[in-house]
Amino acid sequence: MYAYSHKNILDTLQFSKEDLNFLIEKTNRMSVLHETGEAFGILHGKLLASLFFEASTRTRMSFEAAMERLGGRLISTVGFQFSSISKGETLYDTMKMIEAYVDIAVIRHPVEGSSRIAAGAVNIPVINAGDGAGQHPTQALLDLYTIVSEKKKIDGLNIAFIGDLKYGRTIHSLINLLRHYPVHLYLISPEELKLPDKYKKNLEGFPMTWEETTDIKAIWDADVAYVTRIQEERFPDHREYEKLKDIYKVNKELVLASKKDTTILHPLPRVNELSTDVDDLPNAAYFRQAKYGVVVRMVLLCLSLGVNFD
Ligand code: NCD
Repeated sequence: MYAYSHKNILDTLQFSKEDLNFLIEKTNRMSVLHETGEAFGILHGKLLASLFFEASTRTRMSFEAAMERLGGRLISTVGFQFSSISKGETLYDTMKMIEAYVDIAVIRHPVEGSSRIAAGAVNIPVINAGDGAGQHPTQALLDLYTIVSEKKKIDGLNIAFIGDLKYGRTIHSLINLLRHYPVHLYLISPEELKLPDKYKKNLEGFPMTWEETTDIKAIWDADVAYVTRIQEERFPDHREYEKLKDIYKVNKELVLASKKDTTILHPLPRVNELSTDVDDLPNAAYFRQAKYGVVVRMVLLCLSLGVNFD
């Protein structure tokens, strides 16, 4: 019999297809409990540490809203000096101390792999809210939930990823979830920002298929287009960023020319890659995506804490 068994959420590779089906069902249920007001109180008495060592508005507030919506409480810290926390030992010590204060921790950190170090230091559940250019698993889970909610299915969809496939951790995370489904990916990026081979390896042996292109018009064949920001802060050479920053722009004209009813997603924040003239199209799902995110995180907080709800 199936049993969900994840206490820590560190990497999207940890999830099986059964886990994903279970999480989608639980999120449907939580949406109802949230709407009726019955979700409030499920995490009464629980305390969350919200540790954001790297810039964030959306993800941090989404987790904090999720905790508050469940009647839990939180303590938070933002903007530690990057220099003092970028060493594993220091993070280890920070986590040891935090473990004494709270029931669960959510961490965003500029160093890839840091959430694993954090989780290894403590016995409380740890949720990775983005580790450098690595992983952002809760964003991927909310992206997957958004696709199901908007399209009413996943199997058979054509899904385009546009932008910074090299450094975009939301892409690195979401493709690991989508690999469990028979979908086709268009990986649209300039040569310099192609999906690194180490991420392609994770797709081998799964029902998903994919192709790479530099041509943004591939979104005309896509049911879903996942637009991303060029990740300025990850470029070792800023001149390279300057060269690539405006390479793609998804605007109303492009979306309306699609052969399909292309749903536009974006993890946000956007810079220049997604024009605001798309916002008033029914296809623009990125603000709904942010809304689904709170409910998905409500589910994840409960399950990581071992608090069930029916
Ligand atoms: C993303 C991130 O932090 O990786 N934002 C988010 O969590 N919503 C995407 C980005 O910063 O481009």
